[in-house]
Amino acid sequence: MVTGATDGIGKETARGLAAGGARVLLHGRDAGRAQAARRDIVSSTGNEQVEVVLADFQSLRQVRDLARQVHGLTDRLHVLVDNAGVYQERRHLTEDGLETTFQVDYLAPFLLTNLLLDLVLAAAPARIVVVSSGVHQRAAVDLDDLQGARRYDGYAAYALAKLGNLLFTYELAERLRGSGVTVNALHPGAVSTKLLHAGFRPSGGAPPGEGARTPIYLATSPSVATTSGAYFVDEHPTTSSPASYSRELRTAFWELSERLSGLAGDEPARAVG
Ligand SMILES: NC(=O)c1ccc[n+]([C@@H]2O[C@H](COP(=O)([O-])OP(=O)(O)OC[C@H]3O[C@@H](n4cnc5c(N)ncnc54)[C@H](OP(=O)(O)O)[C@@H]3O)[C@@H](O)[C@H]2O)c1
Repeated sequence: MVTGATDGIGKETARGLAAGGARVLLHGRDAGRAQAARRDIVSSTGNEQVEVVLADFQSLRQVRDLARQVHGLTDRLHVLVDNAGVYQERRHLTEDGLETTFQVDYLAPFLLTNLLLDLVLAAAPARIVVVSSGVHQRAAVDLDDLQGARRYDGYAAYALAKLGNLLFTYELAERLRGSGVTVNALHPGAVSTKLLHAGFRPSGGAPPGEGARTPIYLATSPSVATTSGAYFVDEHPTTSSPASYSRELRTAFWELSERLSGLAGDEPARAVG
């Protein structure tokens, strides 16, 4: 399954997995765009086993519904690529009352991944791949203002969410040690997508197919079959920011995210740790 597979890096990752013969669950937030991406991938790969699942990550209710859709379609998930993301120049709140970048890029994948863990564990050996960003290096964390209520800056909100992706990756990898499920994160490079052009530069960037190389590598390569809790750039494990290795931050983010997403109230079978 690939989230945010209607465009950019996610779409090319889904295409690569379909080309390799996998059955692919293609996540989108808009039915028309998702069906168009499906048609495009099916016609370019000849693989008909591409199915659409829908949810807008600005709604945690829809994220929960997405987990139910996936449970209805399969009893195991060998690969989950948490890719969907957005860049928001201006502060905007979701229907859950949370800052949009924080929710779409960080909290929704936190919740979704936890709600799908039983399917990933059932498929072990299995892999979770989290698309973070090198921009995480610029994150400044104020645990009392993760929603940017006091001060909002689009770049800072994005950097914070992408640091959150890494804290999540490292914590989950530790919780899943010995389970046969690996969890790794990556920076895809500067890739020509609407996200890059909305937030970072108006044009340029590598073709999306290039950006999909490391996610596909982490999802499929035998050489990383047992690697877990690592951060990759250009198919190589790399050191992430000092903050991303802070145990204190990891725990604080996890506990806060459980509360904000309502995961703490879920059945124990669906949550780990
Ligand atoms: N491009 C880069 O240079 C770069 C660099 C570092 C990291 N990244 C990361 O790469 C990932 C993919 O981004 P991209 O560059 O490929 O951007 P993109 O082309 O804009 O694709 C983003 C994907 O996320 C989906 N999405 C956006 N908002 C959503 C929401 N509210 N609910 C559900 N899905 C939503 C989009 O759906 P729609 O098609 O409906 O918009 C699209 O499928 C992101 O996590 C991003 O942070 C990108």
